[in-house]
Amino acid sequence: MKISERIDATMAQAIAHGQGGVAPAKLAAALEYAVTPGGARIRPTILTSVAMACGDDRPTLTNAAAVALELIHCASLVHDDLPCFDDADMRRGKPALHKAFSQPLAVLAGDSLIIMGFQVLARAAADVPERALRLIDILGTRTGMPFGICAGQGWESEDTIDLSAYHQAKTGALFIAATQMGAVAAGQEAEPWEELGARIGEAFQVADDLRDALCDEKTLGKPAGQDDLHGRPNAVASYGVQGAIQRFDDILGGAISSIPACPGEAALAQMVKAYADKLVPAGARTRPTVPGE
Ligand code: IPE
Ligand code: IPE
Ligand code: MG
Ligand code: MG
Repeated sequence: MKISERIDATMAQAIAHGQGGVAPAKLAAALEYAVTPGGARIRPTILTSVAMACGDDRPTLTNAAAVALELIHCASLVHDDLPCFDDADMRRGKPALHKAFSQPLAVLAGDSLIIMGFQVLARAAADVPERALRLIDILGTRTGMPFGICAGQGWESEDTIDLSAYHQAKTGALFIAATQMGAVAAGQEAEPWEELGARIGEAFQVADDLRDALCDEKTLGKPAGQDDLHGRPNAVASYGVQGAIQRFDDILGGAISSIPACPGEAALAQMVKAYADKLVPAGARTRPTVPGE
């Protein structure tokens, strides 16, 4: 089965579980709206690829881990788009959840998806409880305080932002979760996989800054030019377009050389490269540098 099919099937099961019983219909519909159609599903794809590189001897646990991680990511986007955060009207090419439903339902859908992520892992624990507990711990660490998305979003309320801590927590955290959870789901230690996740996260942030600066709303499926609009520090403002691309390539090279020794090392490096090619906006590499950029 392809990785995307594994993720989609497990995601559909998790959402159906959340919609079961005598559930409030609008919130039940909002859960599905938040996760379909999915975005790039890059985090669960990395997680599953790492697990496969490590042997993937418990595929059901791997699938649960991948979907748990994506559920947290989707929840974070629902909350991030709310008026009290980025006040964004579009997400993944359609109205943001609070626009399509309401603000209360967006808060509740995000909350429900976060809880669902941990429940999915708990339910997959029967066969391998020790691995599942470690997965829950890693996911919690990279979701909450002080190292997770909550911390990342929290930096935006500070008068002075520690840029590196902000990016590591906001974006890097879930990529570290992706590589570490993939390894743990397949029975390996988490620690050697932290560097790969951190470097992929850093590269992803630079690519996201490039897309924000160079693409339009239609291409992105969400508002463009947000970094400039909110006066957020970003790689394009710091290094210019070509400088940011160079930085992306450098970080990615470091990421690939940090892949720990494992049976599927070469295939994993190939997968990281293939994904990376899609991250930098088409045409950016040939775009002439504008003086002053
Ligand atoms: C967007 O992440 C949020 C950031 C951390 C910049 P993605 O670009 O992975 O979003 P989707 O899941 O593909 O929509
Ligand atoms: C959203 O970050 C990612 C979260 C950690 C919630 P951004 O606000 O920078 O990303 P987009 O542009 O809305 O996807
Ligand atoms: Mg934001
Ligand atoms: Mg945002």
